[in-house]
Amino acid sequence: MNFDDFYSRKYSYFSEEHSGGMEECLIEYKVNPCSAVDLGAGEGRNSLFLASLGFNVTAIEPSKIGAKKIELRAQESGIPLTVINNDFLSASGKLSDIGFLVALTSLDHMEFGYICKTINEIKRIIKPGGYVYIMVFTEDDPGFKKDLDNASECSLFIKHYFKKNELKKFFDDFEILKYAEYIKVDELHGPKHYHGKAKLFARKLL
Ligand SMILES: C[S@@+](CC[C@H](N)C(=O)[O-])C[C@H]1O[C@@H](n2cnc3c(N)ncnc32)[C@H](O)[C@@H]1O
Repeated sequence: MNFDDFYSRKYSYFSEEHSGGMEECLIEYKVNPCSAVDLGAGEGRNSLFLASLGFNVTAIEPSKIGAKKIELRAQESGIPLTVINNDFLSASGKLSDIGFLVALTSLDHMEFGYICKTINEIKRIIKPGGYVYIMVFTEDDPGFKKDLDNASECSLFIKHYFKKNELKKFFDDFEILKYAEYIKVDELHGPKHYHGKAKLFARKLL
């Protein structure tokens, strides 16, 4: 699925606000500005926030319109960052020594085999002691249960809903600093709906 249609609107489809959960982890664990990757950056809300804090951000986004929007917004704000308009596995070969990676509801838009390769690649590019903040949709999501009255209008585009503890198990060779699964209301886009989510904050062992 290509997100161009969603990103063609004047406003940012998935909200202008960066992830508060990501910010809390950065503060709590005193993650200093470093090389960072925003995997599936969308229209750049998290990339721009991280870059404004001094992180050296590479935003990876396959939607041409999303990638262009991130570049324009960075230029307008005078915030330097790098945008790669490609899918993660086509872009990641050039990356290494990354101190922080965020992937906010992007892994669920990949087929399972691609997710496995992506997670291996994330583990390669993160430097020892580096961090990941990942959020995915789970099988508790109304979209998985085809309860479409309570599901996001984007739910039909999700390719993989994560099973209980699946995301955590993928990172069992990292130090898990925070992990939670929960259901949350979302009023940021489309009709009011719910999401089943898992979020993980973890550190690669030294
Ligand atoms: C639900 S959007 C979330 C966007 C952004 N992370 C946010 O929270 O605003 C999912 C994003 O993942 C991107 N995506 C899907 N497959 C991808 C892949 N293979 N590599 C990188 N990004 C991908 C989509 O283009 C889309 O922008």
